[in-house]
Amino acid sequence: MVILGAGPAGLVLGNLLHGAGIDCVVLERATREHVQTRTRAGYLAEHSVRVLDRHGLAEGVHRRGQRHGVCEFRTESNRFRLDYGRLGKGEQHVVYPQHDLVTDLLTQYVGAGGRIRFGAEALAVRDADGPHPSVDVRDADGRPGRWHARYVAGCDGRHGAARRSLPAGAGRRHHRDHGVTWLGLLAEAPPSLDAVGYAIHPRGFAGHMARSAEVTRYYLQAEPGTAPDAWSEDRIWDELALRLGAAEHGPLHRGRIAQRTVVALESDVLEPLRYGSLLLAGDAASLISPSAAKGANLAVLEAELLARALTAALRHAEHSALDRYSADCLAYIWRAQEFSHWMIRLLHAEPEAAAGTGPEGGSRFQDRLRHSRIDALRTSRTQQDWFAENYVGL
Ligand code: APR
Repeated sequence: MVILGAGPAGLVLGNLLHGAGIDCVVLERATREHVQTRTRAGYLAEHSVRVLDRHGLAEGVHRRGQRHGVCEFRTESNRFRLDYGRLGKGEQHVVYPQHDLVTDLLTQYVGAGGRIRFGAEALAVRDADGPHPSVDVRDADGRPGRWHARYVAGCDGRHGAARRSLPAGAGRRHHRDHGVTWLGLLAEAPPSLDAVGYAIHPRGFAGHMARSAEVTRYYLQAEPGTAPDAWSEDRIWDELALRLGAAEHGPLHRGRIAQRTVVALESDVLEPLRYGSLLLAGDAASLISPSAAKGANLAVLEAELLARALTAALRHAEHSALDRYSADCLAYIWRAQEFSHWMIRLLHAEPEAAAGTGPEGGSRFQDRLRHSRIDALRTSRTQQDWFAENYVGL
């Protein structure tokens, strides 16, 4: 079994397959240091913690993760908090930076004797339409190599070799550019709210997400095409303060902006997630915009489903779970995409309205709908339960 990519999807899969006694190797393009320090998502749903728990992989999550179950919406006219951990099914998030999760998963995998090659870039998956697929690789010194396996798991992200190797016509790709750009900021500053903060402001969305006692993630909607370093630190903090209503609701803890990325909100789903002996999971299977923190949680869920299906196929010649893998995952993926899309439309003005190019009446209409949606969330317990269930659940 060859697994491409040592992100959450590849490493959960690797741990589970190795634990089930299946011979596997993980091929990762980057160095170990790089994957253990790369800043990514940080909100694990209870469902993901349960998956990790089932396989003895959640020790670090329990020891250092912070339970979290409140979000706060701010508009120009009011603010309200949703104690989502007490609504819906009563589930919370655990705030645990993704690179810590990746570090834990790697430590467990390597400690248990799991094989992994860092600096091994997969170039192409060959012969996936039959039972003897192989993977062409290039190591860090540029030396070529080839791995043979019964199955290949493509957990190498959206731009990885697995996706690239799918022949034209092997499936359908559903892509949506949401027309919204965020500046993703990592601030060396303590959180300013004891909740996830979502500001819905005429100048654009602003988001606040605690990472640790010293580090906070912020998001600022910006014009599409904005360069990561286009805004000065003062401008960033002033804009965050304005959109989050710091004058009315309390000042923000400012600090150095340690990292900046530009995030274009996009969704991308492949159907099906299986092509013969090649199976996709995580970002390679579907990309989801970060508006509802679903990416890593889908990756964990898919990895467990895939591990079960592969174990049944390889150890017991029982193929039904593998045959269902794609359809089972896609049901979760589309549910998550639908909620994420709902969040995007809640948090942002329609792109044409924000740009001022749409018909005036049309943009005002959309804007009123958005405010009505927020009001419903503020006042209706039914809406709140629905939100909570979808926000943490899959
Ligand atoms: N060969 C080998 N490894 C590769 C290749 C390649 N050609 N291309 C990419 N990789 C590696 C990357 O270096 C990375 O370590 O595959 C890994 C993919 O990991 P992630 O991007 O973390 O993707 P995934 O495991 O699917 O997890 C999804 O990550 O992007 C976030 O928000 C997303 O939280 C979600 C999670």
